[in-house]
Amino acid sequence: MSATFDVARIRQDFPILGETIHGKPLVYLDNAASTQKPKAVLDTLRHVYEHDYANVHRGVHTLSQRATDLFEGAREKIRAFINARDIKEIIFVRGTTEAVNLVAQSYGRSSLQAGDEILITAMEHHSNIVPWQMLCQQTGAVLKVAPINLVGEIIMEEFEALLTERTKLVSVVHMSNALGTINPVKRIVELAHAKGVPVMLDGAQAIPHMPVDVQALDCDFYAFSGHKLCGPSGIGVLYGKEALLKAMPPWQGGGDMIRMVTFAKSEYNTLPYKFEAGTPAIAEAVGLGEAVDYLQTIGMDKIAAYEQLLLDYATQKALEIPALKIIGTANDKGAILGFTLHHIHPHDIGTMLDQLGIAVRAGHHCAMPVMDFFGVPATARASFSFYNTAEEVDVLIDGIKQIIEVFG
Ligand code: ALA
Repeated sequence: MSATFDVARIRQDFPILGETIHGKPLVYLDNAASTQKPKAVLDTLRHVYEHDYANVHRGVHTLSQRATDLFEGAREKIRAFINARDIKEIIFVRGTTEAVNLVAQSYGRSSLQAGDEILITAMEHHSNIVPWQMLCQQTGAVLKVAPINLVGEIIMEEFEALLTERTKLVSVVHMSNALGTINPVKRIVELAHAKGVPVMLDGAQAIPHMPVDVQALDCDFYAFSGHKLCGPSGIGVLYGKEALLKAMPPWQGGGDMIRMVTFAKSEYNTLPYKFEAGTPAIAEAVGLGEAVDYLQTIGMDKIAAYEQLLLDYATQKALEIPALKIIGTANDKGAILGFTLHHIHPHDIGTMLDQLGIAVRAGHHCAMPVMDFFGVPATARASFSFYNTAEEVDVLIDGIKQIIEVFG
């Protein structure tokens, strides 16, 4: 598919891709839910637990110092990966969901009042809806939702109209998990900043597919999960601009986020530790650092270009099937193909594809309002990664044709 992208070589890095499912070679097309892990990440996890594991920031003993150095080394790798100014701006969290909740409960709760508005869009995933609804219940703030059009793009005039002097925070998905739409986030940040409004970006789906530079985007917060980035689960990142993070109160109390504790009062630690209460996911953070190294060795720009070719090929093949309707046809789109097949329920599509060894997600994709907007209860979703191939697209398309034959 691309002479400069040796996908056969890359596939050898992922042991799980050699699995068979129901006697058929695995075709893993559920990457938007979670990606598979390269050997380098698996080896790192094992190495940390076998040779370098102890708690971090707590011990004078050698192993604790070794674990701390690896953990902090991973933070630096991630800082460089997203081009943050300083490691103080890299907060380790469990994942994107926890990052959004952190911003809602710390930034939001301390700075929003009744009548203030939070602006999101109609294509958000539940993790970028529910934490704001909870914040609205707590503060009396109001959630505003910018509409989308029928191809699955934000209607920018409506977004601009909803950005008023009452807006205190904008939170938008960088790339939609259900539709694949890549939003014009730089423009969104410019528009919001022109009104003095900070912007949070949910980068869970975007960051595995394209280079992300938080300084170039100038966003105030950026959240992502390790497990969608070829890293371990249970670890993710909240990037925040230092000045904002510094002014925010901690949201969870406990070890590591304090400098001094008495029964009368406690003093909090400096950034980034102020937001990292309790023992973190140590080996997982180191594993995420390794994942970032691995991806950079391939090159995020090369990954983006290859995945676009894969998406174009899959889209062209899907369009040849009259019964298939693609849900999400934005101009700027990442490697996600959400679809329906007339009256065949997406759960049946998912189950039958599984019998052929093909893993796709079928359901509402934790984005029920998006399903409502398109008038469907659910979709089937094939989501691609750089380790997928054109041949796998052919297997998917053949599988879809078989399902149509069976259901008539
Ligand atoms: N957000 C993940 C998905 O889209 C879980 O499948």
